[in-house]
Amino acid sequence: MTAATYDRIGASYRRFRQPDPRIAEQILAALGTARTTVNVGAGAGSYEPADRDVVAVEPSAVMLAQRPSGAAPAVRAAAEALPFPDHTFDAAMAILTVHHWADAARGLAELRRVAGRVVILSTSAERINQLWLTAEYFPGSARARRPDIQPDRIAAALGGNATIEPVMVSRDCTDGFGEAYWCRPEAYLNSAIRASMSACSLLTDAEVEDGVRRLRADLASGRWDERHGYLRTLPDYDTGHRLIIVG
Ligand SMILES: C[S@@+](CC[C@H](N)C(=O)[O-])C[C@H]1O[C@@H](n2cnc3c(N)ncnc32)[C@H](O)[C@@H]1O
Repeated sequence: MTAATYDRIGASYRRFRQPDPRIAEQILAALGTARTTVNVGAGAGSYEPADRDVVAVEPSAVMLAQRPSGAAPAVRAAAEALPFPDHTFDAAMAILTVHHWADAARGLAELRRVAGRVVILSTSAERINQLWLTAEYFPGSARARRPDIQPDRIAAALGGNATIEPVMVSRDCTDGFGEAYWCRPEAYLNSAIRASMSACSLLTDAEVEDGVRRLRADLASGRWDERHGYLRTLPDYDTGHRLIIVG
């Protein structure tokens, strides 16, 4: 994936990728008392705190165009070369974006250079690859899970005493990222919902068709519910999302 990915797949991002309030609360708590924040890989502005000064950084014109009027000012740039002097911000946030960066180590170093505190939301491949979605229906999506951006590697790259905390995903999560529908399997049959998940863009058409065909059949026969129906009763779930915090 590259910065251009969202120029290709981002056109209807805001339709299915509304910030989830529970995740927003956890991110806000992680930002602590920071007054000034740079949001790197900001997209359409999800999770930007409204109660403090924010500058957004985003390379995709398609995503920049979806920022609502009144959103924080945005700069068209990439994480790997942030156009700010050292120590410009109290905090930097990077939400569900590191897996898109061509040079994650360089981007992480840039966050540390421009901000005192760094808050990153990313995912653990080990956990995600165990989920029914990847393990049973779309095994090709494991390709998106780069070893260099696993939470412990991100924490090590950030240095200091970075902490890693799980982000539980609610049963009615409003941010339609790849694993958001862990207890709503019917959602993955909807091509418009799949289109706003970058992991799906890495699958070949044949891989998508195969996974959707088997999922549809297993839902119709009751096989999915036999194996995973207990998920429908849980309030939230560990989908492998992790906040990495330093500073
Ligand atoms: C899944 S979206 C997340 C957007 C937003 N943070 C959110 O939570 O809704 C990933 C974003 O990362 C951006 N991106 C891709 N490559 C990037 C890079 N090298 N530096 C900064 N952002 C990048 C994409 O254009 C896209 O807007």
